[in-house]
Amino acid sequence: MSEQVPIALEVNGEKVARIIEPRQSLADFLREELELTGTHLGCEMGACGACLVLLNGKAVHACLMFAVQAHGDRVETIEGLSERGAIADLQEAFHTNNALQCGFCTSGMLVTAHELLSRHEAPSRDEIRDGLSGNYCRCTGYQAIVNSIEQVAQSRGGHAAPSSETD
Ligand code: FES
Ligand code: FES
Repeated sequence: MSEQVPIALEVNGEKVARIIEPRQSLADFLREELELTGTHLGCEMGACGACLVLLNGKAVHACLMFAVQAHGDRVETIEGLSERGAIADLQEAFHTNNALQCGFCTSGMLVTAHELLSRHEAPSRDEIRDGLSGNYCRCTGYQAIVNSIEQVAQSRGGHAAPSSETD
């Protein structure tokens, strides 16, 4: 077993300090050390987006990072976003539009949607689809997810440019 190392960071607004295995992924750290299991693990190779969290405000794959790489940083998970009400309208829209079935992809989808709308207040449908290109959903066909994000962008006051999408 390798020598354990100290880590200190901020998670969902709270200071956290632990002694951990240096090879522990950020996703495992959040799920196992902090019991923040809203960060899901699907592929564990950066392909599905189920494990997305915000690192200093930017969406990152928690499966691809060692937890120690987040030392001194600010991490926000789906639990933090939800508890502070930052994604209440997105959650409501996903619910209303049936934009989830099994729900496995949903926390990653919401993290992506939140990050997309925080840097682009009026994305077109093409831009929303492009923004979701790293998030896999095997259930919904994506249409309701795109509809939900588009609705929230509009309700927040964003007016998207005309889309090339024909649906
Ligand atoms: S579990 Fe991280 S991208 Fe799939
Ligand atoms: S709702 Fe099942 S994977 Fe997206």
